[in-house]
Order: sequence, then C-alpha cells, then structure tokens
Amino acid sequence: MNPECKLADGEVEWLLSHHPADKPQLVRNTSHLYVDHDVDANDDVTNTSTPRVIHIVRLESLAPATSFSYRVRSNGGAWSDQLSFRTLPSFAAASGLSLLITADVGAGSIPPAAVAEAATGEYDMHLHAGDMAYDMSLNHGKYGDQFFNELSAIASRIPFQAWPGNHETDDHFCDFLSFRARLANQNLTGDASKSGSSRYYSFDIPGLLHVAGIDTDAYAEPDYDTSGNGNSGQSFFVAEQYSWLENDLASVNRTHTPWVFLIGHHPMYCSAGGEDLGSGRRQNFPELSCRTTASERQARWQRWGDVFQGSSEGAATGWCYDCTTGAQMIREGCTNGTADPKTEIPSCGVGTGSWKGKRWGLETLMEKYAVDFYFTGHMHMYERSWPTLFGQVQKTYHNPSFPVHINTGNSGSQNNFFLGPEANFTAFRLARVGCYSSVQIHNATHLSFAQKSAANGTVIDKFDLVQERHQQLAREKETFTV
Ligand SMILES: [Fe+2]
Repeated sequence: MNPECKLADGEVEWLLSHHPADKPQLVRNTSHLYVDHDVDANDDVTNTSTPRVIHIVRLESLAPATSFSYRVRSNGGAWSDQLSFRTLPSFAAASGLSLLITADVGAGSIPPAAVAEAATGEYDMHLHAGDMAYDMSLNHGKYGDQFFNELSAIASRIPFQAWPGNHETDDHFCDFLSFRARLANQNLTGDASKSGSSRYYSFDIPGLLHVAGIDTDAYAEPDYDTSGNGNSGQSFFVAEQYSWLENDLASVNRTHTPWVFLIGHHPMYCSAGGEDLGSGRRQNFPELSCRTTASERQARWQRWGDVFQGSSEGAATGWCYDCTTGAQMIREGCTNGTADPKTEIPSCGVGTGSWKGKRWGLETLMEKYAVDFYFTGHMHMYERSWPTLFGQVQKTYHNPSFPVHINTGNSGSQNNFFLGPEANFTAFRLARVGCYSSVQIHNATHLSFAQKSAANGTVIDKFDLVQERHQQLAREKETFTV
C-alpha cells in the first residue's frame, strides 16, 4: 500500500456533560480511505487527487434525551475543542419534537440564523434534502471540506441526516463518490432500516415520527444505457428503492408512530419559472435553465436518449423541466402516454430491466400509506402546497386526506429562481430569499410549521396542521388495495 494511503486511527472521548467526575469513555473508530474526484474548482480533470480518511465512530447505549460532552482526535494528534451533543428522545410523544429542515446549501452558505438557533438547543435534529457544498468533489474536495467544517456548528450538536441531490451524483467516473464517502455513517442507518444504502433509508423517532428519505435522482436523471441493455446508470435503482420504500412505509404502525414524512431532493409539485444561472453556467447546464431554447435543452437530454418519450420537453418554452416533466416522473413514474396515474402499465418505456412491470410513481405510495408531508429542495425558492394528491387539491390543513408538499430549497446559497405562474396547489411561495424550515411536532395530532429567513430567523411563512385521522387514512388505503 502506498504510504500516503495508510489509514489513520481516530478516537472519540466522551462523557455525560453533567458528570465531569466520571471517567471519560474512549472509543476508537473504523476508517475509510477516500480519494477525491480529481477535479479542480472548474470541474476540470487535473490527473492529481488527494487521499482523505473518513473516521466513523459508533457510540452505543447512550441514554436518550441526554447531553454528552466529547472531543475527537486522529492518529494520536491534538484533541479537538470540547464539544457537546444531545441525543434524541426515546419516546417523543410526550416531549414533542423540533426539526430543522434544509436543502440546497452551499459551502459558505450554512444559514446563520439556523446555526444560532441550534446553538441555543432549538432543534432535536437536522434533516437535509440534498445538494451540499456545490459541489463536495470540486477543487479536490476542498468545497466539501469547507461545507462540513461549517456544518459542524450544527451537526456537532444534534443528529444530522441527509439524502442526495443532483449535485451529489458526480458524473465523472464514480457516481455519488463524495456523498457515499463523507456520509458513510449513514450506512448504519441504511442497514438498520433494511435499505442497505446511504442514499435511501428511514428511521423512527419513537412515539411520534417516521422519516423515510429517498434519492430522486434516479427519477430526474435516469441515465440509462441507450444501447438497450439496461442496468446501467441509475435506471436499475428505481425498482430497488421503490420496493424498499413500500415495505418501509407498510411497516409503520400509525398508532405508535402517527406522523410520516417523506424526504427527497426533487419536488413533485412546484411552480418555479426558471433559474438565472448566468451565461457561463447556462452553457454548461442548459437543461436547468428555462430560458434556454427548447432545442438546446433537448440536445442536452439526448445524452440520456429519448427518455421522456412524447413528453413536453421538446416543446416546453419558458417553463422549467423540473416542475413539469421531471415532477411528473416522480409523481407518476413513466406514463407511456397513460393519462390516469393510477393505471399500472407493464412497460414504462424508460430504459429496460427493472423499469419494467410498473410505473414506479411515488404518489401511489404517498396515497396508500397516508404520507403526511413531502419535503424537497432543488428549486431554489420556497413553496408550500395545499394538501395535494394526483393533482387534486384540498384547501385546508385540518384533517387533510392528502400530503403537504414543502419545497424548502434556497437555504442560503443560490437564491436565484424566478416564479412561474401560480399553480392551483400553491398556498404560499417566495423566491430570491434564503430560508429554511422549522417543524414543531407537538403531539400525535398537532404540528406547527415555520419558514424562516436564513439571515436573521424572521418567520416569513407559517401554518398549523391538525391530523386526527392518521390511523384511519392508513387503514382506508389498505382496505382499498385488498
Ligand atoms: Fe438540485
């Protein structure tokens, strides 16, 4: 082994914050070697790369809802500052739960107000719906280093869980390399929730909430092999993930765990009108800009073949792919021209292999398992929907039958989207202001949501949701499918 590739040792020393007389416990880690993508800050290959060592330490049998102090070091070197974190409650039904939810956060753009709130103990947990550092791999991983160093102001204090966005796909030669390496700790969560993946997994906050997170890149960028042999790119991934999600949601006992959140990067419903990427980036990523010509976008998409057969991509003008065809793919799967989203089709026409046999649309699962919320990013604007399912809208947050969609994107770095025409599902939306979501689950039936300014924490939108029918909704859907 090359000497520079030798794995370093790491240690975490920890003890109960309020028992300094106790003997600190020392846990040593497992280490993973990780070599960056070999690209500079402009995403150009340089033929040099930097080895990094990722340390993962598993602390077991920690008391719930308890503060611990700790410090870390690598290879017998200097200790870090003394830090502290608080564990999740073992049964949140009595205590309630406070969640920080973000998406689309760049290096240098962690929302300052969220950092300040986390320092005061405002949140129990931080969930991130994809796109980190823009990008973790760039400049030989230094953007990723900066992002996680800055994120430690929050993630050193409370649990942090993330799912990948399109900026984690890293398409040079190894998909999701930086994401999988830097967030390899999530393999533990993946194993615990039977997904076996750090890209889609779930967990419970007992007594109150089940969170299932997925990787929507497989829908938004199918990347299948146009030679027709399938099982390349990400197309094979859709069926695996869908099957896991169905089993996962089916396993939730809504009497014990009333609330169910789904998290993914790409929205199912949104009304963005385009992204101002600047002329340089527009040239590189024409499919992301609604202001490029249809022929430019179509040329880009032809890289993946004619994935969206008969879709409006070629004809769309002045309107984002992500809020039309892309969102429809996530909601309904591949339609093959079948208008009714509940009608299954034997072959969806996207690639081959496991895209066959079903549409793989996620709204069927949202309905069947009475998911309460879908949190997303990707569109760098904030949008709150009315309860919406299969295009139907209920304009009430009192015992809704449909899920609420929150696009919490625009958390600080790239607040550069335009608003498109308002949609029938739109309850509130805001562009060009960095912001993040704060969710307070009070008990089994009552929840408060607030969208806050990234700069100063000012509440820019809020609503309360009452749901007294979790069990009934889940049971009704089960009955319907017998
Ligand atoms: Fe994105």
